Amino acid sequence: MTAASAPSDLSALEAELIGEIDRADNLGAIEQVRIAALGKKGRVSELMSQLGKLAPEERKAFGAAVNQLKTTVTDTLERRKAVLENAALSARLANETADITLPVRLGPQAEGRIHPVSQVWDEVTEIFADMGFAVAEGPDIETDDLNFTKLNIPPEHPARQEHDTFYLKPRPDGSRLLLRTHTSPVQIRTMLSQKPPIRIIAPGRVYRSDSDQTHTPMFHQIEGLVIDEETHLGHLKWCLEEFCKAFFEVDEVKMRFRASHFPFTEPSMEVDVDAAAIGKPGRWLEILGSGMVHPNVIAACGLDPERYQGFAFGMGLDRITMLKYGIPDLRDMFSADMRWLRHFGFLPFDIPTLAGGVSS
Ligand code: PHE
Repeated sequence: MTAASAPSDLSALEAELIGEIDRADNLGAIEQVRIAALGKKGRVSELMSQLGKLAPEERKAFGAAVNQLKTTVTDTLERRKAVLENAALSARLANETADITLPVRLGPQAEGRIHPVSQVWDEVTEIFADMGFAVAEGPDIETDDLNFTKLNIPPEHPARQEHDTFYLKPRPDGSRLLLRTHTSPVQIRTMLSQKPPIRIIAPGRVYRSDSDQTHTPMFHQIEGLVIDEETHLGHLKWCLEEFCKAFFEVDEVKMRFRASHFPFTEPSMEVDVDAAAIGKPGRWLEILGSGMVHPNVIAACGLDPERYQGFAFGMGLDRITMLKYGIPDLRDMFSADMRWLRHFGFLPFDIPTLAGGVSS
């Protein structure tokens, strides 16, 4: 019988092991203690292997004592391990907190902004599409014939001067291309290429050699054209009124049709809206020119003016954008200032729909 087998030695060993367990202050240390005590060559396991050397009458009591020690050490280890695991988890949670009060980051798609003019371009297209208008296009570089002559503006007509045209270099045959001064040439292109009934809008850029607080050398218009056999002035007024109500998102909009003059319409009218639509009642704001398409224009496109008639309008897109969204200076629209765009621009997700109230 060795000294180590005495019961008092077992309780000394037990006290020693429990002390080691209590001092272990992390999961790695506790594992070391476990291996040193209960591992194959651990101190408790060693005692077990001595059992065979004992006399049979001693074996039973000693075996029971060693088993008891093993159980005590195992339980103590487990408890200490649980305490350390909890502490480790708490420390991790304290370290890795996420601040859920931070605003959600929308991601890169939400970084860009849609220019207000682009947004209004889409709004207007949506409203007229609902009324059965198709979108037509024409080039920014036009011929004199389509921009002027076929629109009943003959070569020496004073309206040509009014338009402050940007001309390109003359071609060998003497003719000159130009930057279109309005979207009206798209009327001509459409009538030359399509059979009535015609119902189109044509949004796009136009150019005039003009620059001050309310004029920029490039701006945007939306042309409208309806040609069939029965359209009259009442249709024109109804159509523009419906448009204004939808666009300014109001039930009622006061409009004023003023007699005016354009070579390509007869009669011609300029249209003002009461700025009540944008919260400034009593002020009239001009938004478009319009009229019944002049018979000369219909004839110039190879259609019979006795049979076909209709209306046309040309609306200042930048103008109605400034009105609707309270943008004070026209020139800022084209200055490519990111601060301005962040302020007045739209999220790419804000796609205008009639169902969604166009702008909301
Ligand atoms: N083209 C005219 C302008 O630029 C507007 C307009 C279009 C007027 C169609 C009548 C009909 O001022």
